[in-house]
Amino acid sequence: MDAKTLEVLEKLEKTSEEFWNISRQTGNFINMLIKLARAKNVLEIGTSNGYSTLWITDALKTTGGHLTTIEFWDKRQCIARDNCKYCNLEEYVTFKLGQASDVIKNEINEHFDLVFIDANKQEYLSFFELVHPLLNKNGVILADNIISHALKVKPFVEAISSHPEYQVQVLDLPDGLLMAYKSGENL
Ligand SMILES: C[S@@+](CC[C@H](N)C(=O)[O-])C[C@H]1O[C@@H](n2cnc3c(N)ncnc32)[C@H](O)[C@@H]1O
Repeated sequence: MDAKTLEVLEKLEKTSEEFWNISRQTGNFINMLIKLARAKNVLEIGTSNGYSTLWITDALKTTGGHLTTIEFWDKRQCIARDNCKYCNLEEYVTFKLGQASDVIKNEINEHFDLVFIDANKQEYLSFFELVHPLLNKNGVILADNIISHALKVKPFVEAISSHPEYQVQVLDLPDGLLMAYKSGENL
């Protein structure tokens, strides 16, 4: 990883509670998974100040891929843009401003290899319903806060776990990360 990116990640870790960032372990895992899966087109729901965006775009630099990331809080999106720019990662990301459901319905016309969900926990189920048709066969959905916000995300966890096309595991990373593999056919 580039020295500038490491520097910014370390700086952002000092304010991770304020910006509701994923843990370093979760970021490292997502970064490795993107490289292992050779994922190219990635969607992130919940940018905040761009901490997870940096982990994702650093991996996409390796795979030659691109990230689309959605945030409805303009000030946070501005900080994320600045962070990506400082780390020379801005060419690997498109920032979308708005309510994620509206952005997905009205502005997204592409398919993804990996979708990372980390926004309003009560909307996880509707995000899943919206991104399912956009996820490629052999694609992956990741969702954070599965253990820390277990009650709020329960409808999503039940729906994806009982979906015939998905193989699901909740990983014991801080806050709990759900990983779901889409087979593209009934398992
Ligand atoms: C948990 S934080 C994301 C943290 C980020 N993934 C990271 O680890 O650096 C969730 C972010 O999603 C935004 N958000 C929540 N619900 C949203 C929605 N429905 N549409 C767009 N943004 C949303 C919040 O403003 C917040 O900045």
